[in-house]
Amino acid sequence: MDILKKCAGVPLAIITLASHLASNRQIKPISEWYVLLNSIGSGLTKGDTNLEEMRRILSFSYYDLPSHLKTCLLYLSIFPEDFYIGRNRLIRRWIAEGFIQGDNLFEIGLSYFNELVNRSMIQPSDFDDYGEPTGCHVHDMMLDLICDLASEENFVTIMDFIKVDTPLGRKVRRLSVQKAGLANTRLLTSSMSQVRSFTIFSPAINQMLPLSRFEVLRVLDLEDCYLGKSGHLNLSCVGDLLHLRYLGLRNTKVYKIPAEIGNLLFLQTLDLQGIDDSAKELPASIVQLRNLMFLNLTEVTYLPVGYRNLTSLIELSQAHITQDGDPEELRYLTELRVLCLWLPSGYSPEKLPILLESLGHLHKLQSLSIKSVGESIAGNMGDWVPSSLPQLRDLELEGWYEMMPTRISSSLLPLLSKLHIRVHQVRLADIQVLGNLLALRSLFLDSDVDTATKEERATERSFMLSPDAFPRALECSHLNVLLAPYMFPRGAMPMVQIVSFGLLVSDILSGGDWDLCIRNLPSLQALSIKLYGEEGSTDRYSEAAAAVERAGDDHPNRPFTIVL
Ligand SMILES: *[C@@H]1O[C@H](CO)[C@@H](O)[C@H](O)[C@H]1NC(C)=O
Ligand SMILES: *[C@@H]1O[C@H](CO)[C@@H](O)[C@H](O)[C@H]1NC(C)=O
Ligand SMILES: *[C@@H]1O[C@H](CO)[C@@H](O)[C@H](O)[C@H]1NC(C)=O
Ligand SMILES: *[C@@H]1O[C@H](CO)[C@@H](O)[C@H](O)[C@H]1NC(C)=O
Repeated sequence: MDILKKCAGVPLAIITLASHLASNRQIKPISEWYVLLNSIGSGLTKGDTNLEEMRRILSFSYYDLPSHLKTCLLYLSIFPEDFYIGRNRLIRRWIAEGFIQGDNLFEIGLSYFNELVNRSMIQPSDFDDYGEPTGCHVHDMMLDLICDLASEENFVTIMDFIKVDTPLGRKVRRLSVQKAGLANTRLLTSSMSQVRSFTIFSPAINQMLPLSRFEVLRVLDLEDCYLGKSGHLNLSCVGDLLHLRYLGLRNTKVYKIPAEIGNLLFLQTLDLQGIDDSAKELPASIVQLRNLMFLNLTEVTYLPVGYRNLTSLIELSQAHITQDGDPEELRYLTELRVLCLWLPSGYSPEKLPILLESLGHLHKLQSLSIKSVGESIAGNMGDWVPSSLPQLRDLELEGWYEMMPTRISSSLLPLLSKLHIRVHQVRLADIQVLGNLLALRSLFLDSDVDTATKEERATERSFMLSPDAFPRALECSHLNVLLAPYMFPRGAMPMVQIVSFGLLVSDILSGGDWDLCIRNLPSLQALSIKLYGEEGSTDRYSEAAAAVERAGDDHPNRPFTIVL
């Protein structure tokens, strides 16, 4: 109670101290509560936030951190106030700085990030499908504190407008240039020979320094700075930065990647997402980057011949596979956890099976997505299932299957949580196959409804899912897939919130006591039904639409229902 009183209702103080007293699922012994109480001093007072006191509270949590987390936290002082800091960007930069040691660098980095969140030192923001934060913000007062600490320890040097008078006296190790309108001479005259990390934010890009000024740079992050034709930067010297581990050119519209990039043998991260389309042809030398772990490309960039040598890759995002490339090269990238490929429209039907076979060698894959640049992938997926990828959580396949690959099962894919596939002919029993995937949370099943076959559906109309189908699904989207009216028994889809599917008008109007049974889906929030058949008969169509709209009336959530 005494500690709480000293927080005077200030949320940041309460959260920070509470997280300090109960972090890592452990509550500290009572003696430490007293240590904390005594060190807070007079505490905060209502209405008038006492900055000194608040700072004392925040420093308390800071000094309680293990030293590796202190380093990682101080590093956040590089980013400006109110800035959204992408989680993966941050972790990759920690790795490049050498803050993380061990075998699974990214996983360790992830645990550091989560621990900083758990201790309320950073605020998670933007969440992915698994409820995990994709980035964070740092509270203003926390940022103030870590900026001062970072400056005291000469850990980071921040150049912004306000601190323009601070002399750049000491050797600069990590430089962050945040705002426009500086006395430019300070940058131009200071020595950059010791700078290990250089980050410039878009408002300040006119102050970019020539790369030849740097000697030992490990991190060069120019994300979101416009480097298009107007040219604030001549990238050709990048090949001289032999220590570089992280090169962030995301959203810079850089229009040419110099061949000298192949000299950067220590490079771990190369982020080229959002560069200019004219840079789609990467220099052949890129395949020499054997230490490259994270490579983000754009929809049109393709990898040069010989990319099989990039054997350290953990993530390869948005690579375009060309018609003439050899898809067998993929099989050598066995460290991959995340792979997102784009295929050209009309991708060679002879090569697709080779490509799929090659993917089967990437046993560590957690996320696989194969998309198509054109309308759809011409080649048929056959009956391919990722049977040798037990770690797979996300699977998105834009290629078409003729029939549902019924070998998909929980024993092959125990972790499969998100599935997006396209199947021409869907039978209702196939939906049950997907319903047996125990970890599935989101399903997107695309088909192409063929109402001509509706007579054959007579036997299917009585189909019902098993009561244990889709035990964890939150969203089940059936696009252009006809389902049967009575198919949701009590127990199936117990967690589902969003459902969409198609129904035949004649199915709805055939019996007097038509019932969609959606009261059996207790968590339902949104229902979207597309009606098919009898396009000519507006009366029957409206009657069916009205019946569907009433379907949710007796559901306690009153789900949002739309009829298409
Ligand atoms: C590209 O890199 C970022 C890290 O900055 C990552 O979060 C993202 O998921 C990657 N892939 C894609 C397809 O954006
Ligand atoms: C953070 O807290 C969550 C929930 O209490 C817990 O599951 C997770 O293991 C914690 N992570 C770390 C890195 O401490
Ligand atoms: C970039 O620098 C290189 C080497 O210093 C030089 O040869 C080239 O002409 C420069 N390019 C531009 C566009 O200034
Ligand atoms: C790939 O690595 C092999 C073995 O080290 C080497 O012989 C080959 O030249 C490399 N390929 C390319 C395109 O650099």
